[in-house]
Amino acid sequence: MNTREAPALGVRYAQITGWGMAVPEKVLTNDDLTRIVETTDEWIVGHTGIRQRHVAGEKESTSTLAVRAARQALLVADIAPAQIGLVIVATLTPDYPFPATSSLVQDALGASNAGAFDLAAGCSGFIYALSVATDVVRSGSCQHVLVIGAETLSRVVDWTDRNTCVLFGDGAGAVVVSACAERCGVLASVLGSDGSGGELLIVPGGGSRLPTTHETVSSGSHFAKMNGREVFRFATTMMPKATEQVTAKAGWQTADLALIIPHQANLRIIDSAIKRLGLPHDRFFINIDRYGNTSAASIPIALCEAIAAGKVNTGDKLVLVGFGAGLTWAAAAIEWGMPLPTRPRPWFRRSWTSFLFWWAGIRSLSLRSERHAYNWVMGPVGKDDWRGKLRKRVDRLRSDVKNKLKG
Ligand code: ACO
Repeated sequence: MNTREAPALGVRYAQITGWGMAVPEKVLTNDDLTRIVETTDEWIVGHTGIRQRHVAGEKESTSTLAVRAARQALLVADIAPAQIGLVIVATLTPDYPFPATSSLVQDALGASNAGAFDLAAGCSGFIYALSVATDVVRSGSCQHVLVIGAETLSRVVDWTDRNTCVLFGDGAGAVVVSACAERCGVLASVLGSDGSGGELLIVPGGGSRLPTTHETVSSGSHFAKMNGREVFRFATTMMPKATEQVTAKAGWQTADLALIIPHQANLRIIDSAIKRLGLPHDRFFINIDRYGNTSAASIPIALCEAIAAGKVNTGDKLVLVGFGAGLTWAAAAIEWGMPLPTRPRPWFRRSWTSFLFWWAGIRSLSLRSERHAYNWVMGPVGKDDWRGKLRKRVDRLRSDVKNKLKG
């Protein structure tokens, strides 16, 4: 790490020490969309600012994108997967209803000492997760937390609905949040929710309220539905408001901000926030033209690109701000602590970390194989034949050994 390690006790801060992003290879341009729905490049660019988006291929999912982004973040932070204490994946599009996507990511990374959970707060999810990670690190519970925003919205979009399908894209962004002793990093956050607007942006089917049936599928209830105008109205109010609130909470003025990284949902929403805040255009980072709205992934992807573009420097005051389904909104005030540009790690450290990623795959495979082999040899649980009795004995022996090792 580039700053002094935080003391085990005493005042600790939480700063971003690693970052990474991943998008699918496949690009869908506005012209491609004109062949799917009745739309035009002029309409999409004029109403949203989007020119293209990336969409996941058959073998990709939210977890595969998340793992790619996370590996980059670990390489930048120069830490081993086993040093991560917690993995949080903010997503609206998990691989499965359960298990959590974060557990799949934890396994694929070989983060063997990490807890893992998913967080659903719409497009605000990444900032919610960053805020939780900050508190976990500052409390002393963990030294390093991995925060990921990852989405495959192309899987819940109705590709016959021009009102929504032109807006969304797939991708993932990840950061490592680490403890440090200097006053820097995430210094304030604002989290908000107004559930009365829940139906404005919703996937109505497939949950406990409307479980999946032939009818829910044939009526398209498993697709995202949106009242675009209402969401637009909400967003144009909340983005500047949350930015001002978090800036004040950090004890800063908006004029102090070097860069604002807004959720990339619509260029007109960002332009309206720029006008209301009265700040120069170049203080806002915008990349919606190339990715569309990648929901919880949009802010970490934009952060990675802002860093790569040299727009983030040590000591800069940044605000990340987002809004989304829920309705939710969130903002984080960050004083950048990491020296930039980061020095490339020596080759042997990079090779070692790459080896650990490879080893994570072997570890995962061997854990799965061991479980399968054990169940195959021992037969089903609860049977009273000789294999069932043997299984009980071996299980008892294994738990005794584990307890002794722990003790
Ligand atoms: N191509 C051509 N015409 C279209 C298209 C399209 N892709 N989409 C809509 N239209 C038409 C509509 O049918 C409508 O036609 P009509 O007047 O004949 O009915 C016309 O364009 C205007 O529609 P509006 O809804 O008024 O268009 P608007 O300028 O408001 O833009 C948009 C719509 C882009 C959806 C905008 O309202 C918006 O961006 N809202 C916010 C959406 C958002 O941010 N969602 C993400 C939230 S984050 C999360 O948690 C996932």
